[in-house]
Amino acid sequence: MSNLIQKNNIFNILRFGLKSPQNFKILVEKAIERFFDIKGNLSEKENRDWIKSNCRDYIEFFKNIDANLWEESLQYTGAFKLKAEGALSKINYNLGGGGIYPILYFITKLTKPKCIVETGVAAGFSSQMFLKAIQENGQGILYSSDLAYFRLKDPGQYIGFLVESELKKNWKLFTEGDKINIANIKKEVSSIDIFHYDSDKSYNGRVFALKQLGSLFHAGTVIIFDDIQDNSHFHDYVQEKKIKEYYIFEFENKYVGVIANLSKLSST
Ligand SMILES: C[S@@+](CC[C@H](N)C(=O)[O-])C[C@H]1O[C@@H](n2cnc3c(N)ncnc32)[C@H](O)[C@@H]1O
Repeated sequence: MSNLIQKNNIFNILRFGLKSPQNFKILVEKAIERFFDIKGNLSEKENRDWIKSNCRDYIEFFKNIDANLWEESLQYTGAFKLKAEGALSKINYNLGGGGIYPILYFITKLTKPKCIVETGVAAGFSSQMFLKAIQENGQGILYSSDLAYFRLKDPGQYIGFLVESELKKNWKLFTEGDKINIANIKKEVSSIDIFHYDSDKSYNGRVFALKQLGSLFHAGTVIIFDDIQDNSHFHDYVQEKKIKEYYIFEFENKYVGVIANLSKLSST
C-alpha cells in the first residue's frame, strides 16, 4: 500500500482541487477560512492557562466512575492499537488521530447512546471505539463526517480504513466535508446523544458545527471537543452558555474538552 501513497505535495492538492468544482470550492473555502479565522475571546496564552487550571487527571477520573469499565476500555483500546499499528505501518503518511480513545469507548458503554455524531474520521480509530461499544451495547448508530485528506493520492479510500467490517452495519459515513455532511446528517437525525468534534480545528469550523447541530442536543448529550488548545472556542462556548459541568483532560500535551453531567453518571 505504501507505494500508492505520496507525501504531502502540491500535486495531490491540485489533483484534488481539479477533480470537481465541489473540490475546488472546498480548497478555496479552506484557504479563506484559515486566513480569516478568529482566535476567540482569549489569547493563546490565556487559553492555555485557563485550560491548565481546569485540567484533571483522566485516568483517576474515569476509574472513579467505574473501575471495571475503565479497565475494559484500556484493554480494548490497547489491543486494537496493536492490531492497527500493523496496517498503519504500511502507510507512509500520518493520517491523523492520536486521542484519548479509551474515553470514547468508556462513555459510549456507560451512556448507551442511540445516536452518536462525530466529525473527523481519518484512519478510523475514534469510529472504531464508538462502533465497538455500540456493538456491545446492542444499540446505536454512528454518523461520521470527514473530508478526504487532499494531500494524499486517492484519499477517499483511507477514510476509516481501520474500522472492522463487522461493525460497519451501525455506521453511516459521509465524506464530502462538514459543510455538506452535517446538512445531510441533520436530515437523518432528530436527537444526538454523543457529539465528538475532531475535524476542522478552526474556530469558525467549531462554531458552524454547533450552530447546525446544537438544536439536536438534549440535557444528557455528551459533547466532546478535541484539541481545545488550538483557540478559545471551548472556553467561550462554556462561558457563553453558562455550562458548569465540563471537564478538561490532557493527553500528550493536547487537550480534550467534555461537556456532560459525568458526576451524575458516576453516582448512578
Ligand atoms: C484529527 S483527524 C481525526 C481523527 C479521528 N477522530 C481519530 O481520533 O481517529 C481530523 C480529520 O478531519 C478531517 N477534516 C478536516 N477538515 C474537515 C472538514 N472541513 N470537514 C470534514 N472533515 C474534515 C481530516 O481529513 C481528518 O481526517
